[in-house]
Amino acid sequence: MANNKIVLIGGGNMGRSLLRGILKAGLTSAEDFTVVDVDEGTLGALRDEYGMRTSTDAAEAIVGAEVVILAVKPYILNGVLDGLVPTVEADQLFISIVAGVKGAYISKKLGKNNPVVRCMPNIAAIVDAAASGVSACGSATPEHLDIAEELLGAVGEVVRVKENLLDAVTGLSGSGPAYIYMVIEALCDGGVRMGLTREVSMKLAIQTVSGAAQVVRESGEHPAVLKDRVTTPGGTTIAALNVLEAGGLRGMMIDAVVAATERAKAVAEETSAEASEDA
Ligand SMILES: NC(=O)c1ccc[n+]([C@@H]2O[C@H](COP(=O)([O-])OP(=O)(O)OC[C@H]3O[C@@H](n4cnc5c(N)ncnc54)[C@H](OP(=O)(O)O)[C@@H]3O)[C@@H](O)[C@H]2O)c1
Repeated sequence: MANNKIVLIGGGNMGRSLLRGILKAGLTSAEDFTVVDVDEGTLGALRDEYGMRTSTDAAEAIVGAEVVILAVKPYILNGVLDGLVPTVEADQLFISIVAGVKGAYISKKLGKNNPVVRCMPNIAAIVDAAASGVSACGSATPEHLDIAEELLGAVGEVVRVKENLLDAVTGLSGSGPAYIYMVIEALCDGGVRMGLTREVSMKLAIQTVSGAAQVVRESGEHPAVLKDRVTTPGGTTIAALNVLEAGGLRGMMIDAVVAATERAKAVAEETSAEASEDA
């Protein structure tokens, strides 16, 4: 993958994270990386920090590129794709992180049956700890998927799924950080309720969530086994687990993923309908 020419369209939160991760991992050099954005201030700051090329003209920037990463907001995408039509080449791989827009739609708009890989990263990309799903769409081959996986892998873990399961990825890991933020906040409040300072409580809550996840990852054991191991008969943990079960914690988490997945499906349908009206 090294030294493939990459163009990133959209230098916002996710785009910047990808840029940083890809350059840090040495997957391409700054000279072979171009960022396109509408904001000169954003581009100037990125040039100062990373020294790569920048442009406000996407159609010109993609000439000669092997990979084009789409990282603009969904409502901007149609205009961006329309602008690329005059210069796009059929063999250019499009990697889209735009939520809710199908790969087939992107390929159709570009008009040359381009390979498209759709990705759903999450906000933890900003600290190289994203959980991302990737799907090959249309003419995309396993080699195209390899490229997308390598690029997204620069900012975290990547799994391959069929495109129809990307909404489930959105429901679990795309929206998931918010669920865990609520858990951290609630644990912290529990500590404060029992007399710990907020500062101490927050430190303990964050480390508990991150340490527990690390144990699951490194031990490879099922969370239920790990839970049983720390649950002493008649002890403190089982008293708390009793409360969590009575409150339906696990059912609620499953329902939350279902609700977010269904919402992602509905948004995708709304977006596709709007997009085809515009097309
Ligand atoms: N944030 C997440 O956690 C997350 C997770 C998964 C997927 N995504 C997807 O990632 C995409 C980007 O999200 P984000 O949070 O990074 O958004 P963002 O911060 O708003 O970044 C989008 C960038 O694109 C720029 N832009 C606007 N119009 C443009 C154009 N015509 N050509 C080139 N650049 C243009 C924006 O500039 P201005 O700000 O000046 O308009 C902004 O810098 C979205 O489609 C979102 O669905 C985000």
